[in-house]
Amino acid sequence: MNDVSVNSASIKAQVESVHANLLEDLPDIGRVAVAVYDGRTDTLKTFVHSTRGATPFNHYEAKLAEVPSLAELAETRGERIIGDLHASGNALGRHDRQLLESGYSSSYTKPFFDRGELSGFMFFDSEKGNYFSEAVVRHLTIYSHLISLLIINALASANVLRSAVDVARAISHLRDEETGAHLDRMSRYARMITRTLADQEGLDDEFVEFVFLFAPLHDVGKIAIPDRILLKAGRLTPAEFEIMKTHVAKGVAIVDKMAKSFSIGDSAHIEVLHNIVRYHHESYDGSGYLTGRKGKDIPLEARIVSVADVFDALTTKRPYKEAWSNDDAFRFIDNLTGKKFDPDCVGALLSNRRQIEAIQRQFRYAKGQFEGFHEAYLDDL
Ligand code: C2E
Ligand code: SIN
Ligand code: SIN
Ligand code: FE
Ligand code: FE
Repeated sequence: MNDVSVNSASIKAQVESVHANLLEDLPDIGRVAVAVYDGRTDTLKTFVHSTRGATPFNHYEAKLAEVPSLAELAETRGERIIGDLHASGNALGRHDRQLLESGYSSSYTKPFFDRGELSGFMFFDSEKGNYFSEAVVRHLTIYSHLISLLIINALASANVLRSAVDVARAISHLRDEETGAHLDRMSRYARMITRTLADQEGLDDEFVEFVFLFAPLHDVGKIAIPDRILLKAGRLTPAEFEIMKTHVAKGVAIVDKMAKSFSIGDSAHIEVLHNIVRYHHESYDGSGYLTGRKGKDIPLEARIVSVADVFDALTTKRPYKEAWSNDDAFRFIDNLTGKKFDPDCVGALLSNRRQIEAIQRQFRYAKGQFEGFHEAYLDDL
C-alpha cells in the first residue's frame, strides 16, 4: 500500500501565507494568531499563529469564562482594539501583558462564528503603537474573513473524523469493555508526550491536537480480527499472532477509505492519522511490524503513540494478562529505550509521572459506571 500523498498545505502554512500577503499591504502586523473555542468544555486554545519575532503564547489554553474581556467580545460580537499596551498598564490581563513583553504595542482582536456559534478568536498584533486605525481595520476585514473560512473548514473536516472515531469506538465497545477507557487514557498520554516534545521538535498546537484526536484510531483494524483471537484468554499461537498483526494493514485500509469517502484525503492532517495507524507497531531498531522502518524514519506521531499504547496496555488488564504496576511498566519501557522505543518519547513519558497518575484517576471506569457509558455510546449510533 502506498503512503497517502499530501497535496494541500497545513493550516499553519495557509495562515502563514495569508499573513505574508497581508504584510504587503500592512507591513507592521508582526503576528496573526487564532485561538479556537470548544463549546462543550468552554475551552479556548491557541490553534495556529504566524509570528515574526518572539512568540508570546505557546500552547495556551484557558476557560473562556476566565478571560472576561474575550467572553464579552463573544457575547457582543464586537471587536477590541488596544491602541497602546504600555499605557493600559495594570489594567492588562495576563495575555496582553505577555504580548507587551514580547514587543507588541497594539492589538486588534475579533471573534469569529460558524453558523451563529462562536468558533474562536483572531488576534492581530503590531509592534507599532496605535496601529489599528479605522482604515487598517477596514483593510483587515477581507483577511480576517479568509482566515475564519480556513479555520472553520479545517475544524469541520476534523469533526467529521472525530465522528468516525466515535463510531469506531462504539463498535469496539461491543467486543471489549475496557477499550473505551484505554483510548481515553492512551490518547492523553500521547498528547502529554507530544506537548513535552513540542519545543524541542518544533511542533505546533495543531499537531498536538491532531495526535490527541487521532491516537484513539490506532487499532481500528482490530474490528476485522475474529473474537476467538482478539478475546482469547491466553497467549496467541504464532499463527494467531500472524492474523492479529493484520490489524495494522486492515486499519490503514479503513482510514484511507474513510478519508477518500469524506473527500478529506488531501488535507495535511489526514497524514497524521494514516501514520499513526500504519506505524504504531514499528520498533525504533527496525524489528517491529508492518514495514520494519527504523529510528526517525518512523513518523514521530507513530513513535509517540507506540509508547502511549504500550504503557496503557501494560498497566491495564487484558483478556490475556493482568495489569502491571506503573513502576514495572516504566522499568519495562525504559529497558527497551532505543530498541523498541524512541528515547525522546520514553524520556517524555518518564518525566510526567504525576500527570500520568492524574489521567489514570480520571479515566478508571468502575464496571457499573462503564456499562452506562457504553450504552450511552450505543444510543448515539
Ligand atoms: P494490545 O493489547 O493493545 O497491546 C499493545 C502492545 O502492548 C502489544 O503489541 C505489546 O507491544 C504491548 N504489550 C501488551 N501487553 C504486553 C505484555 O504482557 N507483555 C509485553 N512484553 N508487551 C505487552 P503486540 O505484541 O504487537 O500485540 C498487538 C495486539 O495483539 C495486542 O494489542 C493484543 O490485542 C494482541 N495480543 C498480543 N499478544 C496477545 C496474547 O498473548 N493473547 C491475546 N489474546 N492477544 C494478544
Ligand atoms: C493568542 O493571542 O494566541 C491567544 C491568547 C489571548 O490573547 O487570549
Ligand atoms: C480498538 O479496537 O479500536 C482499540 C482496542 C485497543 O486498543 O486495545
Ligand atoms: Fe495495535
Ligand atoms: Fe491499543
